[in-house]
Amino acid sequence: MMVYNTLLFERRNAIGYVTINRPEKLNALNRQVMEELRACFQSLRDDQDVRVVILTGSGDKAFVAGADINELAQQSAVEGRETSRLGQQVFDLIENLGKPVIAAINGFALGGGCELAMACTLRLAADNARLGQPEVKLGIIPGYGGSQRLPRLVGKGRALELILTGETLTGAEAHRIGLVNQLVPAADLLAAAEKLAQKIIANAPLAIKFALQAVNHGLEMSAAQGQVLESTLFGLCNSTADMKEGTRAFLEKRPARFAGN
Ligand code: COA
Repeated sequence: MMVYNTLLFERRNAIGYVTINRPEKLNALNRQVMEELRACFQSLRDDQDVRVVILTGSGDKAFVAGADINELAQQSAVEGRETSRLGQQVFDLIENLGKPVIAAINGFALGGGCELAMACTLRLAADNARLGQPEVKLGIIPGYGGSQRLPRLVGKGRALELILTGETLTGAEAHRIGLVNQLVPAADLLAAAEKLAQKIIANAPLAIKFALQAVNHGLEMSAAQGQVLESTLFGLCNSTADMKEGTRAFLEKRPARFAGN
C-alpha cells in the first residue's frame, strides 16, 4: 500500500477512502497534494478490488479550503497556466476514473475545494458544509474546471451568480440548487457516504463503468451523438457475464452475484 505525506488512504469492503490531510491549512491544495492525488487516483483506477472511492478532508472544519494561496501569490503567468492544467488533469482523472467517487464534504469546500467536489461523481454535504467559488475576491477565476463544471451542474445563471459574487453557500443552500446530492448531519456523513457506496457496489461493475462513460462523454457531445454512444455501450453490456447473471437472477427470483466481467 502506498504511503503519502498529504493524504491518508485505506481500503475496506471494496471502498477506497482518500482523506486530504493538511488540517492545519484547512486541507488547501498545494502542488504536493495535487501530485499525490494524481498518484493515488491512478492506483485506485487500476485497483479492481476498489469499487467506489470516498473522498473527504481531515479534521472537522474543512473538506478543502481551496488552492494554496501561499503558492498562488507567488506564481508567474506561465506557472499559473501550468498549475491550472495540472489541476484540470487531476480532476479529469477523478471524473473519469471508471468507478464512482463520492465527495463527503465535511466543512469548507471553497475555490479548488468546490471544484474538486464537482469533479467527483456524487456529493454529500454535512450540515456544516460551506461551498463557493471565491476566486474573484483574490483577483483570479476558477482554474480547476469550475467555470465549466458549475454551470453544467446548477445552470448558467446560478453558476455565474456564485462565480461573480464569490458568495459562500451553506450545505442546505447547495442542496437546494442541486450542487450537492444529499445534506446530512455532520456526525452521519461518513455512514451516509458508505450507505450510498454499498448501494452502488451491489450493482454490476461493468454497467456502472459504462453508465459513467455514457453520461460523462455524452455530455460533451450532441444529444444525437450521445445516443449513438449510449447504444454502443448498451450493446456492449449484452456481451458481459454480469448481464447474463443479472437477468437470470431476476428470472430465478434471487439476488444477483456479479463478478465484474
Ligand atoms: N491556502 C492556504 N492556506 C489556507 C487556505 C488556502 N486556501 N485556507 C486556509 N488556510 C490557512 C490559513 O492561512 C490559516 O493558516 P495559519 O494558521 O498558518 O495562519 C489556517 O489555514 C486556518 O485558516 P483560518 O483562516 O485561520 O480559519 P478561519 O476559520 O478563520 O477561516 C476560511 C476559514 C475558509 C473562511 C478562510 O481560511 C479562508 O477564507 N480561506 C481561503 C478560502 C479561499 O479563498 N479559497 C479559494 C482559493 S482559490
